[in-house]
Amino acid sequence: ATPPDLSDALDLVRDVADFPKPGVTFKDISPLLAEPTALGRVVEALAAAGRGPDGAAAVDTVVGMESRGFIFGAPVALALGVGFVPVRKPGKLPGETRSVSYDLEYGSETLEILVDALAPGERVLLVDDVLATGGTARATADLVEQAGASVHALAVLLELSFLPGRATLGDVPLTALRTV
Ligand code: PRP
Ligand code: MG
Repeated sequence: ATPPDLSDALDLVRDVADFPKPGVTFKDISPLLAEPTALGRVVEALAAAGRGPDGAAAVDTVVGMESRGFIFGAPVALALGVGFVPVRKPGKLPGETRSVSYDLEYGSETLEILVDALAPGERVLLVDDVLATGGTARATADLVEQAGASVHALAVLLELSFLPGRATLGDVPLTALRTV
């Protein structure tokens, strides 16, 4: 069961109807970000997905996906005492990059990572705000695996269970603080 304090924190995520287009309910994290106590609880709960039984970090690096994955990923990395690596939308990273494209309902999206951002054998915790279709997370896992690193788990605040995110993830373990 979700501890009451964490549940109260997650209750601050606000549903916005018909955004960014009709029929879609947007999960707005802004009210949660504005409350430092709640934000701290969420960050620690996400970081727990990257800890071993002894409470020490079981990962070497946190990877966050642009842009909402940056907001949570960097403080999770700090909480674990490990570094943070950004996965970005195209054309933002300086230097040689590795790219993965994935299909959206209409069109496609591409994500990139610097080729030297991860070392082979590194254990990585992926952090994002929401798991929906899973396209973003699967593409990020592919980037990590192409670098020879391994995905320890994906940690998100919210899993949308009416979409196939969990199936899209394949064998990547998922920690969702709340499933709706
Ligand atoms: C949202 C959300 C996740 C992703 C989940 O990001 O922050 O990253 O969608 O959807 P999926 O599981 O279907 O891939 P978005 O692409 O809207 O961009 P943002 O983080 O920059 O707001
Ligand atoms: Mg995102």
